[in-house]
Amino acid sequence: MKLPSGLPVGPDAPWLAPLAGFSDLPFRVLCRENGAAVACTEMISAKGLVYSLRRKEGGATENLLRTVPEDTPLVVQLFGAEPDFVAVAAREAAGRGFVFFDLNMGCSVPKVMKTGAGAALLRDPDRAAAVGRALFRSAGEGRAGCKLRLGPEAGSSVYLYLARRLEDEGAAWLTLHPRHARQGFTGSADYAALEKLARSVSIPVLASGDLFSAEEAVKRLETGVSGVMFGRGALSDPGIFRRYLDLRAGHGPGERGGAPGVDFLLRHARLARSLSPERKGRGGVPFSLLKIRSVAPRYLRAFPDVGRFRSALARCADWDDFYALAREFFSDSDFG
Ligand SMILES: Cc1cc2nc3c(=O)[nH]c(=O)nc-3n(C[C@H](O)[C@H](O)[C@H](O)COP(=O)(O)O)c2cc1C
Repeated sequence: MKLPSGLPVGPDAPWLAPLAGFSDLPFRVLCRENGAAVACTEMISAKGLVYSLRRKEGGATENLLRTVPEDTPLVVQLFGAEPDFVAVAAREAAGRGFVFFDLNMGCSVPKVMKTGAGAALLRDPDRAAAVGRALFRSAGEGRAGCKLRLGPEAGSSVYLYLARRLEDEGAAWLTLHPRHARQGFTGSADYAALEKLARSVSIPVLASGDLFSAEEAVKRLETGVSGVMFGRGALSDPGIFRRYLDLRAGHGPGERGGAPGVDFLLRHARLARSLSPERKGRGGVPFSLLKIRSVAPRYLRAFPDVGRFRSALARCADWDDFYALAREFFSDSDFG
């Protein structure tokens, strides 16, 4: 199923969540290769985007916007509290070929909240609706949605009220991570809230929150949501998309074992090396390798020698070191 704008939304179109620090270009491509139908960028400051595109010089925002043709359809997630900035950011990004946008109404990091953006918008539904309206109009019909939490804290759930307003303003879809902002990631996702939301609006609703297995994600469809968005579950195992799709197609999902983790690590490394800018980071180590150093342990939880591998990985100064290490530890794997 696709929105009239061409964006796949539905039970057989699992999305990769926006994940600050993680849903960068190499990881998005890795997830797409494993069945993600749509991927979101990390959240990007609307203001930062406007200034950075005007300065026409690299920098952090340019990096967050790096993409390649196979990285489509891509949803650019913006955060901002000022309607004008959000509208201009979407317009300028559209001028660079970006088509789909999402507005962050869930981030509870103080740096974001204190600007009035992210989950701070849940405290001010009028502003939230105004920022939403600005984005939906600027992006064009069917091209922008919002990602919400339940409300600022327990006892102040605004999601149903806000969702209806955002629908009236022209949101093409809504994603709900059914926790309050104050909760962070504690407690558990409130599935009943997903059901209420799915019943209250007529635009597609995507379920986010605690989807750590293909089975849980399939079960979540029973709440009446249109589709699912994988976050942390995909971080440690991009194979979750394929297993979810297999389950949906009536085939049992494949086993999750130790070996696929190594395969994901090696594929991620290859993508990071080919798709990242050639920048050097800390200690003159390629930026892409620093990234792999930080993500590797996630893939290797089932690997018996993970501690020793980690320490050796921390000493890798370049990609030759990395592949020498990989050969030593994963002798059965194909390094091409
Ligand atoms: C490391 C990390 C970074 C995240 N960054 C973003 C973000 O940039 N924008 C956003 O809307 N949500 C962000 N989230 C929330 C996720 O998109 C998702 O809604 C949340 O993790 C719940 O889903 P999960 O339990 O399946 O991970 C982030 C979550 C994590 C763990």
